[in-house]
Amino acid sequence: MGYFITFEGIEGCGKTTQIKLLGEQLESLGYSVLITREPGGCPIADKIRSILLDADNRGMSSLTELLMYAAARAQHVSEVILPALKQGNVVLCDRFTDATIAYQSYGRGIDQETVNKLNLMACQSVFPDLTVLIDCEVTTGLERARRRIETNSGPREERFELEALDFHQRVRNGYLTIAQNEPQRFITVDGSGSREAISEIIAAQVLQNRLNNNIYATL
Ligand code: TMP
Repeated sequence: MGYFITFEGIEGCGKTTQIKLLGEQLESLGYSVLITREPGGCPIADKIRSILLDADNRGMSSLTELLMYAAARAQHVSEVILPALKQGNVVLCDRFTDATIAYQSYGRGIDQETVNKLNLMACQSVFPDLTVLIDCEVTTGLERARRRIETNSGPREERFELEALDFHQRVRNGYLTIAQNEPQRFITVDGSGSREAISEIIAAQVLQNRLNNNIYATL
């Protein structure tokens, strides 16, 4: 089996940039790396993504939203993540199950037991070996995310960015609580530094503290 690392954080925390940088670093060390994301990562889940993030769908109920994230994940795990891990790859995934706990439970208020049950079902026994949480102030993250949406020529994926500030604050607090409850799985990094400084911290922690012990066997 390979090694599964997920990246989490609020909108605009910088995780997509950091995944790319960690991927390049691991590849330069000889690891086979697959970078993927949720919601999405394969054609069926990408179609679900476009429904989930479309700002025209603001009337979507919280339960519909939860079930669609679970459906997208079930497909992504079966089609992409599980096969890549079986081939011995390091899989870096931009968001995974913790996002559903942070957004749908802490953010939307769905009880955690329901979210956990669906996560378990969708994951098919695939769980992150390590999770990098990039923490940043809600106002800083949202400002960055809005700038990105304005300059992006693709579809406006902004249904969550349009949520009120207190929703994002609940999501951020949710992430911090999840990380505190599972310190052995989480690396929590302050996202307010330069991208180079953050990347160095993540790479050092992943390589020195965790990854070395677990995946040398797959090289
Ligand atoms: P992204 O902006 O990182 O691509 O993520 C898409 C949005 O989907 C983001 O606002 C967080 C949200 N999301 C959930 O609400 N629940 C989930 O389970 C996942 C994976 C993402």
